[in-house]
Amino acid sequence: MTLKSILLASLASAGLVAADGLNARAQAAGKKYFGTEISTTVMADSSANNIAKNSQDFGQVTCENEMKFDATEPSRGVFSYTNADKIVAQAQASGQIMRCHALVWHSQVPTWLKNGGFDNATMISIMKNHIANVVGHYKGKCYAWDVVNEALNEDGSYRTTDSVWYSAIGPAYIPIAFAAAAAADPAAKLYYNDYNIEKSGSKATGVQNLVKLVKSYGAPIHGVGMQAHLTTGQVGAASQYVSNMQAYVNLGVEVAYTELDIQTPSSSPNFAQQATDFATMVSACKQVSACVGITTWGFTDKYTWISNSYPLIWDTSLQKKAAYNAILNAWSGTAASTTTSSAAAATSTAASGGGSGCTAAKYVQCGGQGYTGCTNCVAGTTCQATNNYYSQCV
Ligand SMILES: *[C@@H]1O[C@H](CO)[C@@H](O)[C@H](O)[C@H]1NC(C)=O
Repeated sequence: MTLKSILLASLASAGLVAADGLNARAQAAGKKYFGTEISTTVMADSSANNIAKNSQDFGQVTCENEMKFDATEPSRGVFSYTNADKIVAQAQASGQIMRCHALVWHSQVPTWLKNGGFDNATMISIMKNHIANVVGHYKGKCYAWDVVNEALNEDGSYRTTDSVWYSAIGPAYIPIAFAAAAAADPAAKLYYNDYNIEKSGSKATGVQNLVKLVKSYGAPIHGVGMQAHLTTGQVGAASQYVSNMQAYVNLGVEVAYTELDIQTPSSSPNFAQQATDFATMVSACKQVSACVGITTWGFTDKYTWISNSYPLIWDTSLQKKAAYNAILNAWSGTAASTTTSSAAAATSTAASGGGSGCTAAKYVQCGGQGYTGCTNCVAGTTCQATNNYYSQCV
């Protein structure tokens, strides 16, 4: 930190200058957060960690690996929370909310599980026990959970033989996981999370079908997380992201970009185009009222998971790149983009026939901060608040 930034930070915390940053601008635009993934490796680098802890830039945190199955249940029935607890404690001390990630995934499962040869009933009980323990441990501390991660192939069909869960349980593992998470923390927003689902196409349609599947079993699902691992120069126009989000939102879920990074080769990076592409994704989220926020998968090129690439907002020397100001400006917008934003919100309401002019089905959202969909509940159900952000027909 420079002397100037220390001084500004102190003045900001004393309320003497206006606070500003990626998260401050996102919240001023009506979003819940702009956030980042971090790891215990980043926490051990104090210069990087000082950036991570600044809630003006990051109002939300996701653990890179620390909450995954292999980290939290390395041996059957033996749970380990030391590293994830460190991240959660720092986030809480810094005034940052947690998106918790991830409960049921085909990857990063421990050997005892992968090679266990367990039958259907045993796999269901292992999955339920894992969810009850992990979600129970963090009850009240996770704004959202990624309950099921990457269950789909690129053509929108379910991953079958490469998933230990599907192999033993079949597609029922998905609603069973959501029901178990809801039982363990009824206030957490429960998300399905995947990549290559940011634009319409077979896989995005597969996600819509998955949301319907979960609901058809009577289990709750509150959000679709679009990972958004993108490539500089291939992002294109915001409108295609907006319309794809609307298709999810029309099913009664909120949406978020959960792992945004925009790769550009370290051998010949194009940071100007990258800045434009980050701004496009911010603009897309800004135009959809049910897009609650954006999480980047790390914030500095020093710790990206992508080899030979500079996909993030701070460079390898922890200096801000062009993307930083582009994101600020995209959130703060202009009169023209504010108009677009409210027009898009109105379109969203009209497209879903929102407000009191339509009826939400059982287990579908019917209210909550920022919600613009149907507020009447189907006969035999009433609209009940789960938390400030979510009411459901039950
Ligand atoms: C496993 O059991 C569950 C719960 O009884 C059931 O819904 C599912 O269809 C079963 N899966 C297979 C592959 O038999």
